[in-house]
Amino acid sequence: MHIFHTIDAIRAYLTNERTDRSIGLVPTMGALHQGHLKLIQEAKQTADIVVATIFVNPAQFNKAEDLEKYPVQTEKDLEMLKAENCDVAFLPKSKELYPIQPELTINFGAIENALEGEFRPGHFAGVGLIISKLYNIIQPTHAFFGQKDIQQFYVIKKLTEELNFPVRLHMVETMREESGLAMSSRNMRLNHEQKEEAALIFKCLTRAKNHLNEGMNISQVKAELISAFEQSPQLDLEYFEIVNTTDFSPLEKVTEPSQTALCLAAIINNVRLIDNLPLIS
Ligand code: PAF
Repeated sequence: MHIFHTIDAIRAYLTNERTDRSIGLVPTMGALHQGHLKLIQEAKQTADIVVATIFVNPAQFNKAEDLEKYPVQTEKDLEMLKAENCDVAFLPKSKELYPIQPELTINFGAIENALEGEFRPGHFAGVGLIISKLYNIIQPTHAFFGQKDIQQFYVIKKLTEELNFPVRLHMVETMREESGLAMSSRNMRLNHEQKEEAALIFKCLTRAKNHLNEGMNISQVKAELISAFEQSPQLDLEYFEIVNTTDFSPLEKVTEPSQTALCLAAIINNVRLIDNLPLIS
């Protein structure tokens, strides 16, 4: 696996290698787990050259404390990428990507203020900035993102389409622990008991999805989920919404099942967890 730290070095390498080959980009912030490896595996099946990036993007953190706490395990990450036969790893330093404090901001409209955007102001603008930079540096033909961050996926879809980046997007299914808990780098901050309790998220989402598909109305589905969370000792519900995936506005009635997702955020032990299920999958 080729490892690069600077923009010039990775550009020079890819200029020589790309010829007419496809390039699959897998952006990550490190602290890799099975969910990331699934992205690499899908990329390996689709593209000729797979480039994984490891960069904890300061522009997308609205709380300095979250950025400081973000787990870093670079050596282990590189071993995991090698084991998946990833072709290239790009690990720039912050100064390499942000030599000056960026002044440019990307405004995504309604989608950036809904759900995650409301609880993490500026988050999606920061994601848009880093993905635009990575697209320009790597010039991928394909890019891979996890379904766990479903709102992020649709923000990046908007970025890709509206700015005409010639990149094909792939949404890769969420990997789960046996309990159903969605894999996340944040799970490292939970003990066994907390992880078991957090499995309620997937259990409730699944039940809510089934009830919606059986015709139960949204307000009843929400009330039932909220009541299940109220009985949980440590897990606090931040939001649960059934949304339209075009702008993530909460729905009162399902009208387009194929564009509907159930999205949830909850906090346990100061760790914020998100998960979602598309209504049809
Ligand atoms: O999903 C993530 O890990 C990050 O938001 C991403 C896409 C790597 C951008 O920093």
